[in-house]
Amino acid sequence: MQQPDQVPNVARGAQEAELHRAAALLRDAQEQERAGCITESIQRYHAAIETAERDAQPAVLAEALRRLGAVHHHRNEPALARELCDRSYATAMQLGNVTLAAEALNALAVIDFEGGAMDAAREKFYRALELDGSRAELRGRTEQNLGIMANIQGALAQALVHYQRSLEAFESVGDHRGCAIAYHNLGMVSADRELWDDADLYYGRSLEIAEKIGDVHLRGLGLLNHAEVHLARQRYDQAKQNAEAALGIFDQLGAKLDKADAYKLIGRVYRETGRHALAESRLRSAVEMAMSTGSILSEAEADRELALLYQAMGRNQEALRLLNAAHRLFGRLDARVDLVDVSTKVHRLEDTYLAVVRDWGQSIESSDSYTHGHCERVAEYGVAVARELGLDVDQQTTIRIGAYLHDLGKVRVPHEILNKPGKLTPDELRVIQMHPVWGLELLATVEFPWDIKPIIRWHHERYDGTGYPDRLRGDEIPVSAQIICIVDVFDALTTTRSYRPALSTTEALVKIEESRSWWRPDVYQAFLRAVNRLAKAA
Ligand SMILES: [Fe+2]
Ligand SMILES: [Fe+2]
Repeated sequence: MQQPDQVPNVARGAQEAELHRAAALLRDAQEQERAGCITESIQRYHAAIETAERDAQPAVLAEALRRLGAVHHHRNEPALARELCDRSYATAMQLGNVTLAAEALNALAVIDFEGGAMDAAREKFYRALELDGSRAELRGRTEQNLGIMANIQGALAQALVHYQRSLEAFESVGDHRGCAIAYHNLGMVSADRELWDDADLYYGRSLEIAEKIGDVHLRGLGLLNHAEVHLARQRYDQAKQNAEAALGIFDQLGAKLDKADAYKLIGRVYRETGRHALAESRLRSAVEMAMSTGSILSEAEADRELALLYQAMGRNQEALRLLNAAHRLFGRLDARVDLVDVSTKVHRLEDTYLAVVRDWGQSIESSDSYTHGHCERVAEYGVAVARELGLDVDQQTTIRIGAYLHDLGKVRVPHEILNKPGKLTPDELRVIQMHPVWGLELLATVEFPWDIKPIIRWHHERYDGTGYPDRLRGDEIPVSAQIICIVDVFDALTTTRSYRPALSTTEALVKIEESRSWWRPDVYQAFLRAVNRLAKAA
């Protein structure tokens, strides 16, 4: 079977020389490409294509078209790349050359894949396997790509099968580098599935081969990814050693993006072992390094890790500022699919956000012993009311985060006033009523991806204009603040306070009915439905 790289290179006599002109031009083009002379190589590929067409050399033509397509693909010119690979495929099929046709399909699939067209890419990979899957070299690469795609889409078991098949194929032809990459991928997917022993084993094999064949970059990646496993298994010294060795390699290679990842891991090790100052310095390096490469994703991930450090240090405002920055960065990632699962990362970021905000909200409760669990309950009720009103998931998240932080300003209210048994004096009441304003002051430097500040400022405003601090009335009050207002009152009534015992749900609903002029009619009705539903579910 003809190999794509093999083109006749022995010319005998002038006639044959004539016939092999296209092949010679193609070889020349590849040499230029390998030497990094891209402009020259493009010229030669064009010359090879023209000559092959004129001399009726379809195999050379198909090969040159595909290789030129790959050059344009690397130059980020997908339309041109696709057109050339399409022509390559058609030429190969006409010739009946399955190897060249499968290679063209493989190239087209990669273009689809990197453009985010997953289904189209998968279909082409499978067609390539059907055409020429008996050739181990093509099978190894194609199964590897199918594995990466499955991995991105979260189908880890499937990814594992593809990586195993790619390993078999590479082993059968003695492709050591292919094997090292397959083991590396198997390590990553095993780590994702938390199969730590398997991950240890696979990374070990990959590192061994990478060392033997002298592939320094692959060795660095193996060390760093294996460090993730060490960290997960709390083998902190080993994690740090690996990551530092990887950092040394990346430094030598000038691989900045990989360096950012290595700094990030070292920072996480310091964070997990309580060495906060060192953690901060490494994670800051990770952020800066990622910024300097322009990788939005890497920067966002580093921001998130630094935010978790600040949370551990009780620096909540800074943590939220960073999480907001990370959230904005994710928003700038367009539909382009990288070799990573972006949506999982966005979800993880939003989970981190909620966790930081929830912890912060709960830390306020601890100064007010009677309202333990208040924020969590207000969040649950609030989201239930939001659902009854048909608000979307994003608005529900706004309600949840607003609920966690609605009483943030109470940290400035003296403990004696907050926990006073009996009636408050007018002066004391005025102090308590400052908490919505103080809450906003505490968050003055923090921007949120969700519009929560109106909730904090106006969750004590009333529809009839008798609330505080701004005495808003009617539809001047945002619906989100009205939702938190009613569920806040409900939770206050149904829990024990310093000045009275808890009321039953029925008693509380009677009280709320008496004050129904405080809330928008639709919010009031949605609240009643939500309480009913929650009571039934309980
Ligand atoms: Fe409040
Ligand atoms: Fe409250």
